[in-house]
Amino acid sequence: MTFNRAIKIAPSILAADFANFGAECRAIEAMGADWVHVDVMDGHFVPNLTFGPAMCAALRPHIKGVMDVHLMISPVDVYLEAFANAGADVITAHVEAGPHIHRTLQAIRGLGKKAGVALNPGTPADAVAELLDMVDLVCVMTVNPGFGGQGFIDSQVAKIASLRAMIGDRPVHIEIDGGVTVTTAPLVSRAGADVLVAGSAVFKGGSVTAPQAYGVNIRAIRAAAEAARG
Ligand code: DX5
Ligand code: ZN
Repeated sequence: MTFNRAIKIAPSILAADFANFGAECRAIEAMGADWVHVDVMDGHFVPNLTFGPAMCAALRPHIKGVMDVHLMISPVDVYLEAFANAGADVITAHVEAGPHIHRTLQAIRGLGKKAGVALNPGTPADAVAELLDMVDLVCVMTVNPGFGGQGFIDSQVAKIASLRAMIGDRPVHIEIDGGVTVTTAPLVSRAGADVLVAGSAVFKGGSVTAPQAYGVNIRAIRAAAEAARG
């Protein structure tokens, strides 16, 4: 993974066909996805359950590019090694998941992985001020985490702009997660985001047997985001 700020589209497989994850990962990459975003939920930190490291390991052979693992779990530290061994490229933990996010990020990098820190909508940008030299990615949640298909929270756009200024010239991605569509992508890319997670907006209208719609959706979101950057 070489760092650049080109717009990257990271489809969330939370919106894929759960009976066909391998084929779905292959389909979205073939249709232009840059990263594959894997939403891990524990029914405790967030009110939903998805999957764990065994699923990530099973998906790994079906993903050529970046496997971007978003951990919505607490505690988190005890599971980091398992997700690293499962082949995650980026491991993102929430700043709200416990008192020791600094230790968590050290551990992720210690495992040889890119480290991400995520902020819920109610958490201010300042919460990551002491962490910017030890992360590769800041994930701004533009919905409350737990479910796909929710509406974008507009107040987060100002937070993205604040983070962009705080990050300065550090090689740190700003990832947006939740409610990204052709309508909201321009708002976040203009504010400084470069990695756009999208579940519903990528998978709508397509399937593993008719994946062309995924390509249409990915290209539309990318074009909207790039145009807004000027
Ligand atoms: C929410 C997840 C998101 C979600 C995005 O907890 O982290 O990745 O799946 O889904 P959409 O794009 O449908 O809002
Ligand atoms: Zn996510």
